[in-house]
Amino acid sequence: YLELSAGLQKQLTETANAIVRDGHGLLAADESSGTIEKRFSKVGIENTEENRRAYRELLFTAPQEVTDSISAVILFHETVYQKTKEGVLFVDILKKRNIIPGIKTDKGVVKLSCTNSETTTQGLDDLDNRCAQYYKDGCRFSKWRNTLYIGPLTPSSIAIQDNANVLARYASICQANGIVPIVEPEVMTDGDHDLETCEQVTTDVLVALYKALRDHHVYLEGSLLKVNMILPGADCKKKYSPQDVAEATVRCLSRSVPAAVPGIVFLSGGQSELDSTNHLDLINKAPGRKPWKLSFSYGRALQASAIAAWNGKAENVSQAQEVFSIRAKMNGLASTGKYNK
Ligand code: 13P
Repeated sequence: YLELSAGLQKQLTETANAIVRDGHGLLAADESSGTIEKRFSKVGIENTEENRRAYRELLFTAPQEVTDSISAVILFHETVYQKTKEGVLFVDILKKRNIIPGIKTDKGVVKLSCTNSETTTQGLDDLDNRCAQYYKDGCRFSKWRNTLYIGPLTPSSIAIQDNANVLARYASICQANGIVPIVEPEVMTDGDHDLETCEQVTTDVLVALYKALRDHHVYLEGSLLKVNMILPGADCKKKYSPQDVAEATVRCLSRSVPAAVPGIVFLSGGQSELDSTNHLDLINKAPGRKPWKLSFSYGRALQASAIAAWNGKAENVSQAQEVFSIRAKMNGLASTGKYNK
């Protein structure tokens, strides 16, 4: 088969490596207008376009130390075209700060018919055109999320296969447009399954994903993985230590993710801010072969306290930025195993 041109390969490799450069990770600020509503309503902030704009301005203009630990930001479509109060595009602000802008390109999940409420992700049809446009508008990477659920009969073989194939097709389209794909198969924590089950399922999901990426000729050196840590289900009665989580996560990844992949970035998936940081730190300290960078791509774990501190009020902006900066800094330290709780 044909390969991507040497020039395109070089560009994708450079972008992927810049995103996971030492001590850095991603801010996932790509909540759709529906999802940010859930985050805002918790603290009574109205979900208006101006509030979404003002809140993202707060994040993207936070003190300089944020750029010491945030290398890239995942944006939602609306945010790519929004500006600061002074009229500067957010994308330009980020680029000036050496933060790489990226874009969530999936269009959400739908049910897979005749399964136990399993899902696949939509958005492939017009993805080629959208990637070309987002590249012109300054985005250099993308994120796409598929979800898998653990239950007595799930994930089914069709869910594992379909979700792997959709992610591979997405990655291939991104790379042809010079966009680094972050592939995200999220094994959800819903349920009462134990940590061992999460490890087995996540390993199976990742092995299927990397087979599909190979089948679609995806250039692994110019791609990144975003995935869940290995955790017990949210309703699991058995208790596990943070060290158990770290060791299971490294074991799972070492068995399933090729060494050609430059970095693996974790989602926080409902863990507290402190747990997310502590787990990442222990993962980086855990024994075992770790040929990739292991960093963060947190949404809630970087933003929950900042949203609460802001509370939709202009007078709280600098305090909220301070809170955000501290989480960014701690996760930056954890991404090299230098955070001590
Ligand atoms: P959380 O870190 O809040 O789970 O969000 C990350 C993300 O982008 C999931 O797709």
